[in-house]
Parts: sequence; C-alpha cells; structure tokens
Amino acid sequence: MNTAPLKVAVLGCGVVGTEVVRRLHTSAPDLAARIGAPVELAGVAVRDTRRPRGLGLDPGLWTDDPLALVKRGDIDIVVELLGGTEPARSLAVAAMEQGASVVSANKALLAEHGPLLHESAARHGVDLLYEASVAGAVPLLRPLRDSLGGDRITRITGVVNGTTNYILDRMTETGGGFGAALREAVDHGYAEADPTADVEGLDAAAKAVVLAALAFGVRVPPADVRREGITGVTAADVADARALGRVVKPVTVLERPAGRDGVLLRVHPAMVARAHPLAEVRGADNAVLVEAADAGPLLFRGAGAGGVPTAGAVLGDVVAAARRRVLGHRGAAPQTLVARRGAV
Ligand code: HSE
Repeated sequence: MNTAPLKVAVLGCGVVGTEVVRRLHTSAPDLAARIGAPVELAGVAVRDTRRPRGLGLDPGLWTDDPLALVKRGDIDIVVELLGGTEPARSLAVAAMEQGASVVSANKALLAEHGPLLHESAARHGVDLLYEASVAGAVPLLRPLRDSLGGDRITRITGVVNGTTNYILDRMTETGGGFGAALREAVDHGYAEADPTADVEGLDAAAKAVVLAALAFGVRVPPADVRREGITGVTAADVADARALGRVVKPVTVLERPAGRDGVLLRVHPAMVARAHPLAEVRGADNAVLVEAADAGPLLFRGAGAGGVPTAGAVLGDVVAAARRRVLGHRGAAPQTLVARRGAV
C-alpha cells in the first residue's frame, strides 16, 4: 500500500470548484481516513489569480497556467471543472499523459470526447471518473455502470436539467409566461447569464449522450440527439396540461425502439401525468427513472446542481481514484466500452 500524500490539482474555481477546494481542506482528516493516505491540494488553476475567493489558501497554490500545473509530473489526480470542450479536452489528455487520473463534472466534454478520453485513460493506466457530470449530487453513473452491470437497461426517462425544471415549475405555480420565469431563474442564480444551453436542451442532450454510453454501451454524437428546447412553451400549454391532469416537464428519454437496432435519445418538454414520479420533481432538482430487465424500475432523485451538492459528487470520484492509487492499481477501472455508434 502506498500511503504517501496524494496530490490533487483543481482546474477552475467557480461555484463547484470553490466548494471542492474548501472541502479538500476542511474534510482532509476524513478523506485521508477513507482513502488510506492524505490528500494534498497541489494547485488551483483560475483565469484571474488576484480575484479574492475567501478560501484562505497559500497564495502559491493559485496559478493562471493550467497546462503547467497538469504537466508538473507529480500530480496524482486532476479535477477538471472548467466546463466546455477546450481547453478542458487538451488539459485532461495532458494530465493523463503525465499519469494523473482525471475527475470531471463536464458533460459537454464527455459527450463530445468521451471515447477519446476513455482511450487515453486506458492507454496511460489512469482513471477517468465523472459522476457529477449528470444529475449533480445524485449517484447515477456508478450504479448504471457497476451495480446494473449484469442487468439489461431498457429505458431511461429523466429530468436532468435543473434550470428548465425550475422555469417550468414556476410557470406551473404562477400561471405566468416563459420570459418571467426565466428572469426569476437568472435572479436566483439557477440559470447562467447566457441560459441557451439549458433552455435549448443542449445541456440535457450532452447528459443523454453520457447516459447512453454507460447504460447501453453506445456512442451517440450529441448532434444525433432529437432536441427541442422549452422556449416555445406558453402559459396556455401549461394551463392545458393542468386541465388534463398533467404537468409540463423538461424530459430526457433514452430508449431502444422496438424492432430496431440502436437507441433513440430525445430531449423535449412533455406533458407528464401528475401521478408519474417525474411530475413531482420540483425546483432545480433532478430525477431519473431507470428501467432494467431484472431490477425493474429504479428512481434516482435529488439535487441536480449547486456548488455544495455537486462538489460532494466530485469528491466521491476523488476518493475512488485516490483509493485505487493507494492500493497500487494500474490501468483504468473497468468502463463500459463506447465504441459502437448507436443513434437510430
Ligand atoms: N445548468 C445545469 C442545470 C447545471 O441546470 O441542470 C447542472 O448540470
């Protein structure tokens, strides 16, 4: 067993990164006990190193050069929280080339470059873990990959975007229109200043691609996800749904259409019966209903976004990757292969 301190580099210090860095410090004794070796923050890469963040870190830990940080050669785990595909992809690859495991919360990165990143992880004998990339704090990817590894998943239906769920929820509660609910979401910090990826379904489509790889072992290019945003949902649609005993929800569906090869992925607003488990998902929460041949229906539900909940999921991956290092495992943990193209 290797009990030398494990060095962790964090790329990006936004809402989630701030909490990850804080918890690496405040939970250090607990983390060390669970991992079997101490975890040491080796550096935090940010765009502006002078911006005060109230974390009380040694000033020498901040850097605006993420590539130099991952190429230092002594980093065990790189936590990528930059979002977007570049420079996140290049930095993740550079980290793995240096022998570091990568933990990411970046669904866009995994949806676009999942196969390449998994190949890189396998080639360099490191782990690539991304539990926080779908449904925030809700443990979902590990159950899909590991716990249900011997089962056959037939269908996944979910609310995997908290921003659009919040907006449609507010429209349902107030009877108001999309614009007012979006403004509320921005004011409460749920929606980004540019909420396009959420309201046009791109965020949920990326999450669907990640789920398809793990649940069905297929690679679906994000552009092949059938996608309709929620910008066209009106107060009248919400009222019509209510009259039918239904509620409008931003659903993401992954299914194997009968008699056809491959899987169909779609993201769109839908009128869901009030008795359906997804109808009860409120605010920015997420819920995912997984249907499996042996297990039957399984419901995963909880905080789909937010700094503290998402940081918990990131740290879970840090613990998993760190434990494997302490035990001296080489080679990536078993991952679902994502080589087959799967969209129908
Ligand atoms: N914008 C995303 C959402 C953040 O609203 O769900 C979490 O992935």
